[in-house]
Amino acid sequence: MGRDEMDYQDKPVIAIVNTWSEINPCHAHFRERAEDVKRGILQAGGFPIELPAMSLSETYVKPTTMMYRNMLAMETEEIIRSHPVDGVVLMGGCDKTTPALLMGALSADLPAIFVPAGPMLRGNTRGKVLGSGSDVWKYWADLRAGVIGEEVWHDVEEGIARSTGHCMTMGTASTMTAISEALGFTLPGASSIPAVDSNHIRMAAQSGRRVVEMVWEDLKPSDIATPAALRNAMVVDMAVGGSTNAIIHLLAIAGRAGVPLTLENFGEVSREVPVIANIRPSGAYLMEDFYYAGGLRGLMNRLGDRLDLSCITVTGKSLGDGLDGSDVYNDDVIRSLDDPVYSEGATAVLFGNLAPNGCVIKPAAAESRLLKHVGPAIVFRDYNDMAARVDNPDLGATPDSVLILQNAGPIGGPGMPEWGQLPIPKPLLEQGIRDMVRISDARMSGTSYGTCVLHVAPESAVGGPLGLVRDGDSIELDVAERRLNLLVDETELSRRRSTWSPPEPRYDRGFGAMYSQHIGQADSGCDFDFLVGRGGAPEPEIH
Ligand code: FES
Repeated sequence: MGRDEMDYQDKPVIAIVNTWSEINPCHAHFRERAEDVKRGILQAGGFPIELPAMSLSETYVKPTTMMYRNMLAMETEEIIRSHPVDGVVLMGGCDKTTPALLMGALSADLPAIFVPAGPMLRGNTRGKVLGSGSDVWKYWADLRAGVIGEEVWHDVEEGIARSTGHCMTMGTASTMTAISEALGFTLPGASSIPAVDSNHIRMAAQSGRRVVEMVWEDLKPSDIATPAALRNAMVVDMAVGGSTNAIIHLLAIAGRAGVPLTLENFGEVSREVPVIANIRPSGAYLMEDFYYAGGLRGLMNRLGDRLDLSCITVTGKSLGDGLDGSDVYNDDVIRSLDDPVYSEGATAVLFGNLAPNGCVIKPAAAESRLLKHVGPAIVFRDYNDMAARVDNPDLGATPDSVLILQNAGPIGGPGMPEWGQLPIPKPLLEQGIRDMVRISDARMSGTSYGTCVLHVAPESAVGGPLGLVRDGDSIELDVAERRLNLLVDETELSRRRSTWSPPEPRYDRGFGAMYSQHIGQADSGCDFDFLVGRGGAPEPEIH
């Protein structure tokens, strides 16, 4: 490669695990940003090696990137384990890449720092601000209802993604990068910097310099991802009004860190922490506004002693040290604890006979009138059934109906696709209805909104009660009481259970077959059973 010994001898070798790809607009700047990371590594006396990993472009991967999160986690772990490297820079940001890179790095447990992609700029069309995802769903509903025409839709398409960077609402990407910072895996303030801001370039080079020091200090992911850091991540998740997906990813990250974490823990934290980031889809602003308002450092400053500020981060100093000098410059974007966007429960965890192992809802993104509701079920047995019938006027849907989607979970989907925001039936859309109670074992995009109960566990494809629901059954949702029940007596449910049979396996070869055999349920983070727990595989001895 044209290097000689002075390039690498006695220097830490730093892997840059780069998820750049030409098909991923969120990471389009990573090709050049990796050069900034290298500049920092060289300045600090390290030897950089760029090692590409799969990109998981959220909008282009079938059937869903979630099916491949664990594949990227495995790839990251094995890239780190199998190459002669001493430390790692992880470059990601598009939804599943952040948890996957952190999971792999935790299992490999070499010194590692995360360089978040940063959000893209605000969207804009016809004088209106556009938010990633959220405005897609809004304008798509308007297009289906005939409220707007194709030419408006076309302008929305051209105005919604104005730069490189990940989605700029508080979707899964912004939530997970905020969580990576709260956990301590980024430099202070890194996750809020827009992708195209010159400070992002500086942050990349600083991360390169810092990881070389981390190698000499032997500061490893297992030193950072402590139980207290995981709790900080849950607190920040709730305070930013984070994506429901974050719960699954944090459960998986905790599993790799060997930290016991349960859905109940999220339920407790969600009761205690208000939403103070006024960002769509729960609020009004976007990530660019959040950055100007003080970013995540400003928000964590406001959270104060709700966080354990003594946790060590990649800086080698405490989380609290990283907040020195932070402030909030716009009290409407980052609210005070006394004047929150939503007083509690960014994500509420529900239990009941329809979800014995739990499910989640994002009340802040739902119409409040539906948070206590009893209504008759309309059941779709899978996605194709739903797509074929949902707009049919004979469906008989009313605003009180509860739409049920079965077989959309980790195995049934497969991969829990983001189908949980079931479309409102067209006849109701035309009456102006924009929200209904919807229940599934699927996930929902973090940019989505609506009264959508998600991640029902166990899923219907493995015999969960969701698979026993029939048209007309009464469903009770009570978010304040954290309850989700199927109002059908146990005798009838037993009868239905005795005639239930699982769907045919979808894969008989390849990654899909391995995935189906080893994937866990949503309430435990959907990791593979053979990857949970601390530590990578011991190296075989070669003589
Ligand atoms: Fe990459 Fe939304 S498509 S973060």
